Amino acid sequence: MKQKILDLRDQALASIKQVKSVEHLKELEVSLLGKKGQLTAMLKGLKELSEADRRVVGKMANDLKQELAQTLVEKEQGLKRKASQSLGQEFYDTSLPGRTEPYGHLHPITQFIREIEDTFLSLNFEVAEGPQIEDDYHNFTALNIPKDHPARDMQDTLWCKDIPYLLRTHTSCVQVRYMESHDAPIRVVVPGRVFRKDDVDATHSPMFHQFEGIMVDTTTNLSHLKGILTIALRRLVNNPQLELRFRSGFFPFVEPGLEVDVTCVGCEGKGCNICKKTGWLELLGCGMVHPYVLKTVGLDPEKYQGFAFGAGIERLLMIKHKINDIRLFYENDPRFLEQF
Ligand code: DAH
Repeated sequence: MKQKILDLRDQALASIKQVKSVEHLKELEVSLLGKKGQLTAMLKGLKELSEADRRVVGKMANDLKQELAQTLVEKEQGLKRKASQSLGQEFYDTSLPGRTEPYGHLHPITQFIREIEDTFLSLNFEVAEGPQIEDDYHNFTALNIPKDHPARDMQDTLWCKDIPYLLRTHTSCVQVRYMESHDAPIRVVVPGRVFRKDDVDATHSPMFHQFEGIMVDTTTNLSHLKGILTIALRRLVNNPQLELRFRSGFFPFVEPGLEVDVTCVGCEGKGCNICKKTGWLELLGCGMVHPYVLKTVGLDPEKYQGFAFGAGIERLLMIKHKINDIRLFYENDPRFLEQF
């Protein structure tokens, strides 16, 4: 009898160990400890033993009953834990929307160029482009910046090696190209990349973007320039209260030349650190197209007159969104780009 109990123990523990599901475990429990189970049958057989044997074997059988009951509980817990873990891995909620790849979007500068184009198209301007690799004539000479003129130093130029070309230092050269190939009246805006031999810091980059505008007709004058710029800039920075201040400034291709300041976004004109307490931020250069330029492209300065302006795109975006470092535009950090 003792040996039978020991054998049953070995066999029962081995079976419990192998069970893979709670269902089978329950079946095993019934076959061991149930009313008609193996151990129950053994306990029933105790009657036939002598008093002394019954006590010893009875204790063994009862101990085994407890041990098996305990082992069964632990095994059940183990199986359930495993089941819930694999559920966690495989389970998915079919009511959730599908997972998609994150979408990208246009770079903030590209977006802004499109806004500039839309704005000027709505003012009856055309949109034009020109080459980024330019010749000396279009970038300088035709714009009344002759060789050895100190105005050339206003923009440090990146020259091509061995060939007489340069990376355009401004979009103003497209004024010349456009007027060479189009008759007046002219209304055109030109966004694009420009290049200068600048060191990189919070406000400088050797590559940046500008947009140039030019309008030429028989009576085009400074009040048109003021009106067009005010409408366009207010719309582009999304601020109908934006004020423009025109100061005289020098650019060889315009006469008179003007610089335009706009209300500081930091303080709305009250004076703060951004505007060095002036309430104004310098934004762009403009003026009435110099008769020399008109003559050079074949337009009669006695008949035609017009205005031109050129502005930095990054600069305007930085003013619009209070961005304090131009490098953010070129680092392509999603944390920055996602905000646009
Ligand atoms: N080209 C000038 C620059 O890059 C900006 C500029 C000034 C453009 C006056 C103009 C203008 O058309 O009239 O600094």
